[in-house]
Amino acid sequence: KSISLNLDKTFDFISKDTVESYAGQLQKHNEDLHNKTGKGNDFLGWVNLPTSISEAELADYEATAKTLQDKKIEVFVVVGIGGSYLGAKAVVDALTDSFAQLKGSDKPLILFAGQNIGEDYLYELRQLLKTKEYALAVISKSGTTTEPAIAFRLLKQDIEEKYGKEEAVSRIIAVTDAERGALKSLANSEGYKTYVIPDDVGGRYSVLTPVGLLAIAVAGFDIRALVQGAVDMENASGPDVAFENNLPAQYAAVRNELYKNGKMIEILVNYNPKLHYFAEWWKQLYGESEGKEGKGIFPASVDFTSDLHSMGQYIQEGERKLFETVLSVALPDREVRIPSDEANLDSLNYLADKRVDEVNKMAELGTMLAHVDGGVPNIQVELPKLNEYYLGQLIYFFEKACGLSGYTLGVNPFDQPGVEAYKKNMFALLEKPGFEEATKAIKARL
Ligand code: PA5
Repeated sequence: KSISLNLDKTFDFISKDTVESYAGQLQKHNEDLHNKTGKGNDFLGWVNLPTSISEAELADYEATAKTLQDKKIEVFVVVGIGGSYLGAKAVVDALTDSFAQLKGSDKPLILFAGQNIGEDYLYELRQLLKTKEYALAVISKSGTTTEPAIAFRLLKQDIEEKYGKEEAVSRIIAVTDAERGALKSLANSEGYKTYVIPDDVGGRYSVLTPVGLLAIAVAGFDIRALVQGAVDMENASGPDVAFENNLPAQYAAVRNELYKNGKMIEILVNYNPKLHYFAEWWKQLYGESEGKEGKGIFPASVDFTSDLHSMGQYIQEGERKLFETVLSVALPDREVRIPSDEANLDSLNYLADKRVDEVNKMAELGTMLAHVDGGVPNIQVELPKLNEYYLGQLIYFFEKACGLSGYTLGVNPFDQPGVEAYKKNMFALLEKPGFEEATKAIKARL
């Protein structure tokens, strides 16, 4: 079984023939991705990543996860930001019981640090960790990113204080570049177990490397099934697969054609709150890959039906520059039926005996029709279930479509030059050594 893509509700807005006419150029872009002949070709390690993950690598992540679980850790803190954070957060949240924190579980809770510079957040996390058994992963490809470096400096001192230096070393894992960066030097000098992020895999394409897989394994999820899903989607979207069967190519074609027709904002919609962070991962993937050279669809997201009571009005009747891509989960894991009530004071007996998901599905269908009527094209990506295997398919589906879509737009989807601008200003304002001239210049502007 596979995830499926339904484009029917875009064809009131763009023509099916025009979308099919993208087949030739997408075939070429797909070959460019696989033959490494397109823009940003030194960052194409993700293209064949799923099929190149070895049994030994998977066994190694599982063994490390087991070693940490054997220490009876209650919390595993992942220190990282952007691509070194969102993939693990997306998958772990999608698979975890919504109330695991309060129910207690035999598997460690995954918490994050260094994904912001909130002082209160760090204070509160450190307070919590004083009372918990824990271990840490510090993840940074460049090894020089400020946010995780600050968080790690604090948490490293705390963990050493709590467990003593030697035990702390056995509870810290570094995931970084093979050679470069301050984190690599630190990990070498402290003797941390270290995993390497391949040179040719950029941050936002790195969830299927130790960046994501380690934390997902520590959380107790099946990384083999996740990788198998990605392997199957890799095989189902290679250059030998015709456009009519190639889901990422079709998605890339449709969103580019919608963009050409003035649909500048894509909203990723879910009807399952566990997918909230999957949308955050997706926004980074598409926003950083396509938003450049004055171009690119703006990726946004909503959680329905919650946000139908906040953003629903705008989507129905605001600027007609939107389209929606709905992540639809065919079957929930658990069954809850609405009870009948003799007094029926809430007038809900017409729903008696129905599953809650039936109501959710009718909300989904009704919203789709209303939004299409309101001028919002609708793409549907359906997962048969929310599990590791289909999430693996979905991850690779979006990655492949993003590469293809970026090439169709004419940008390099594998760089992010614009991310540097805020850093330069921040360093100048903080008077970082080496930024003296910039400091003078920026202070003159204030
Ligand atoms: O996609 C990217 O490359 C970025 O968003 C990075 O993931 C992010 O900036 C974190 O970088 P690093 O892993 O080097 O700390």
